[in-house]
Amino acid sequence: MGLPHTPMNPANPNTPGTPYGTLPSASPLPQRKPISLPRLNEMRDRDEKITMLTAYDATFAAVADSAGVECLLIGDSLGMVCQGLASTVGVTLETMCYHVESVTRGLRRVQGTAWVIGDLPFGSYHESKEQAIRSASALMHAGAHMVKLEGGGWTTETVQFLVDRGIPVCAHLGLTPQTVHALGGYRVQGRSEAEAHRMKTEALALQHAGASMVVLEMVPAALSSELTAQLTHCHTIGIGSGNGTAGQVLVMHDMLGIGLGKTPKFVRNFMEGQPSVKSAMAAYVAAVKNSSFPDNALHAW
Ligand code: KIV
Repeated sequence: MGLPHTPMNPANPNTPGTPYGTLPSASPLPQRKPISLPRLNEMRDRDEKITMLTAYDATFAAVADSAGVECLLIGDSLGMVCQGLASTVGVTLETMCYHVESVTRGLRRVQGTAWVIGDLPFGSYHESKEQAIRSASALMHAGAHMVKLEGGGWTTETVQFLVDRGIPVCAHLGLTPQTVHALGGYRVQGRSEAEAHRMKTEALALQHAGASMVVLEMVPAALSSELTAQLTHCHTIGIGSGNGTAGQVLVMHDMLGIGLGKTPKFVRNFMEGQPSVKSAMAAYVAAVKNSSFPDNALHAW
């Protein structure tokens, strides 16, 4: 039996909608240039903050893109927010590829311009550099422009190996959720002088190895500002690390106020007072760009 009624697409009244959700229309193409590494470098040069949100499916990716979010991270946090796992440790490469494909399909449908980063999950790059390139290639085949991997020190060689083979890499220092069991919980990292010194050494080595971005998670604001000043070729993207970084990222569910657990101190609910998800995301972009989010007094250590 056919569908009784085909609704119109509210975003574009000239095209029929579907009963299963309608992606927003793209802005006229001439106004939108795809985000690339050179464009991110230009933003940094003119002191414009880089905005990033996590995305896991086609529709939210399209909405975030149309709200002006420049970078979409298909984070392995999807294990917690989509799959209901207790940590990111159980996420597989196959699952990551599925979500990267979903996000990139959504962006393609709306002629989206976001820079797409795929997270390498736990166990997919730890064995060898060869394993890392196989896993990174799978994410790139799924549509990622860049891969992210957690940790410093031993990962430096892997980063160099991937970058030498043409894969842009985002590193991740501070709280690295894949090692939550070794770290003993979700805690601020880099508080002692020894930890801070180690993070600075690791960050500089990752930049030297060719990482063009680094997520700094739950790093004291003063340390992340210092790292940002030192990492002139590697853009620091903070989460719970103060407002001195080159850009910011949040988990989408957190910033929409629909997280299932306790809301971390570094999150602001951008949905409050907003009529739609798109306007909440646009409010996040505006707040990051004008440096009103994060507020170091409220959202940082
Ligand atoms: O997996 C993820 O979503 C992340 C962000 C929290 C940075 O790594």
